[in-house]
Amino acid sequence: MENIYSIFNQLVQRGERERFLNQKASVFWLTGLSGSGKSTIAKGVERKLFEKGFMVQVLDGDNIRTGISNNLSFSIEDRQENIRRISEVAKLYTNSGIITLCSFISPTVSIRQIARKIIGDLDFHEVYINTPIDLCEERDVKGLYKKVRSGEIKGFTGIDSPYEEPKRAVLTIKTDSQKVEDSVEQLYNYIIEKSKLI
Ligand code: ADX
Repeated sequence: MENIYSIFNQLVQRGERERFLNQKASVFWLTGLSGSGKSTIAKGVERKLFEKGFMVQVLDGDNIRTGISNNLSFSIEDRQENIRRISEVAKLYTNSGIITLCSFISPTVSIRQIARKIIGDLDFHEVYINTPIDLCEERDVKGLYKKVRSGEIKGFTGIDSPYEEPKRAVLTIKTDSQKVEDSVEQLYNYIIEKSKLI
């Protein structure tokens, strides 16, 4: 018992790290369809926050699906596992005092519930990047919708795999009616408010 306490006393606590970084850490969880603009907005916000002196990290398909989740498919079970892993990583970041932006389709209410439960209600801000699927398909940044239509890809979110709109979003960003910079500004302002050390 004595030992456990002495180890605990030596640990650098989250609060100390937050004071060191002069920011409050939490997770901003961006959900939305493929091509909705999640990662574009997350990266824009990351740059802006960083330039203002905040320590921030984006987790998205580029750094997760190519690494820690590179053995996972897009079945609902594997998406769940993907989100579980990401959430555990995001929690480690948060405990290090870092503001974390997670940009993942996370298609169902129950999948996002897994994330919320792991990260903890107080540290979890659900943000809905709301873009109509027709617009995502029209943009088709990665050429994936085309492959879906030609039958090359099956089980694609919003086409033949479900996407459930968030019921608990603290912020909804409608990308069809404003420019990217305005969406970035909207999220940035929200995060600044939530990341002030009181
Ligand atoms: S999630 O459902 O597990 O949250 P994640 O955000 O990691 O998905 O990855 C989504 C990205 O993978 C999409 O933006 C797209 O580029 C690519 N992708 C490849 N296959 C699929 C698919 N069947 N459904 C959705 N996205 C896919």
